Amino acid sequence: MTHIELTINGKVVQADVTPRTHLADFLREQMLLTGTHIGCEHGICGACTVEINGEIARSCITYAVTCDGAVVRTIEGFDEDPLMARMRQAFTEEHALQCGYCTPGMLVAARDLVRRKSGLSRADIRTEMSGNLCRCTGYVGIVNAIERVMTEQTSPPSAGDTTGWLGPAPGPAGGVAVKSAAVETGKEARPAVASPGRQAASPAPIRPGAKPIAVAVGAIEERDGATSITQSFVLEHPRAEVWRLMSDPEAIARCMPGMSLDGPAHGDKLAGHLEVKVGPIAASFAGEGNLQRFASEYRQIIEGRGGDRKSGSRVTGKVDYSLKPATAPDGSEATRVDVVMSYVLTGPLAQIGRSGIVRDLARRIGEAFAQNIDALLRDPDSRLPAAQLQGISLLFSVLIDRVRALIARLFGRA
Ligand code: FES
Ligand code: FES
Repeated sequence: MTHIELTINGKVVQADVTPRTHLADFLREQMLLTGTHIGCEHGICGACTVEINGEIARSCITYAVTCDGAVVRTIEGFDEDPLMARMRQAFTEEHALQCGYCTPGMLVAARDLVRRKSGLSRADIRTEMSGNLCRCTGYVGIVNAIERVMTEQTSPPSAGDTTGWLGPAPGPAGGVAVKSAAVETGKEARPAVASPGRQAASPAPIRPGAKPIAVAVGAIEERDGATSITQSFVLEHPRAEVWRLMSDPEAIARCMPGMSLDGPAHGDKLAGHLEVKVGPIAASFAGEGNLQRFASEYRQIIEGRGGDRKSGSRVTGKVDYSLKPATAPDGSEATRVDVVMSYVLTGPLAQIGRSGIVRDLARRIGEAFAQNIDALLRDPDSRLPAAQLQGISLLFSVLIDRVRALIARLFGRA
C-alpha cells in the first residue's frame, strides 16, 4: 500500500492505496463519491471524467498513487459552480440526458469545453465532445445544451485564464491554477504538484536576444523491446563552445527540465533524479548511469537506469548525442546537435511510454533543453527558468507528450 495525500473537492484527504488502484475506484469506493461513473474502464467512454489540477482527465486510467499531492474535482465538487449550474439547467431543458449514466462525465467535459472555446459550430461541438459517449440520447440534446451555454457566455473564454477553478489545461501556467484552487479551499497544494516546474513540458521561455529553436523529431521506432527516437536542432554557436557545455554532465542536467544530479560525477559514474509530470501523472525517477565521451567525434553517450518508488515504474535508457558543424542563416559558425534516445519503460508508467504523445513530448522537451543550452552559451551566468529545472510536465500535458519523459528519463537516469 502507498500512502497518498490529495485534495478532493476542496478537502485534503489521506489514504492508503495499492499501486494498481485507479482513481475512479478510489473516488467511488474509498471516498464514496459515486457521482464519478465507470463505463468502459479503458479511457474510451468518458463516464469517469474528473478534473485533476484544473484539467479534465479519465479517472479510470489514472492511478490513484499518481495523484499524490494533486487537486481533484469530481462532479460533486461543482455544486457551487455557476457555470456548471447553467450547464445542468441547459441539460435539463434540452433533454440532454435519459438514463443519466454518461451525464456526470458529460457535464464535466462540457463545462470544460465552454470554458475554453466559444462560437463553435454544432459539428465542432460534436467533435470536441467525441470523447464522451452516450448510449441514450443521440447527442442532439447534449449539443443543444452546450451550444446554448456557449452562446450565453458574456465574455469569451480564454485557455490562458486559469483563475480559480475555472479553465482546463492550464499549460505553462498550470501551477497558477493549482495555487488558486488551494487558495479557494483554504489549503496549500503540495509543492510537488503545485510547482510550476512540473509544467516544464512547455517550451522554455524565449530570452531577449535569443531565437526560438526548432527541434526536428524523427520517427519513433521499436527495436529489441526498446523505443528509440531521434531529434536534431541547430545552435548558432561554434561547435567547440557547444561541446564545452554539452560534454559537461552538470550543465546537461541543469538544462534538462526536471533533471538534477545528486553530486559531481565520479569518473564516468553519475547519479541523479528526474522529476516528471505528465498531465495528472507525477513521478520521481532516481537512477544512476555512466558516461562515455568521444571527444574527437564531439559525441557523448549517457546510459542509465532508475525507478520511481511510488509507481513502481522502472526505466533503462541511453542518450547518444553528437555535434556536427553547421552554418547559421547569417553565415556564421553553428552546430547541429543530433540526439538518439532509446529506452525501455516498465511498470504503470509504461502506458505513457507507448503513447502517441511521446513524439510531441520529445519535441517539447527538446525545445526546452535546446533553449536552455542556448541561454547558457549566450550567458554562462544565465539563470534558467526554475520551471525548467524542477520538472517536466510530460511534458510531458501529457506525456507525455511523453518523449519528454523519455528524454528526461534518459538524461535523468544519468
Ligand atoms: S470509464 Fe473511464 S473512459 Fe470509460
Ligand atoms: S443518458 Fe444514458 S448514456 Fe447518456
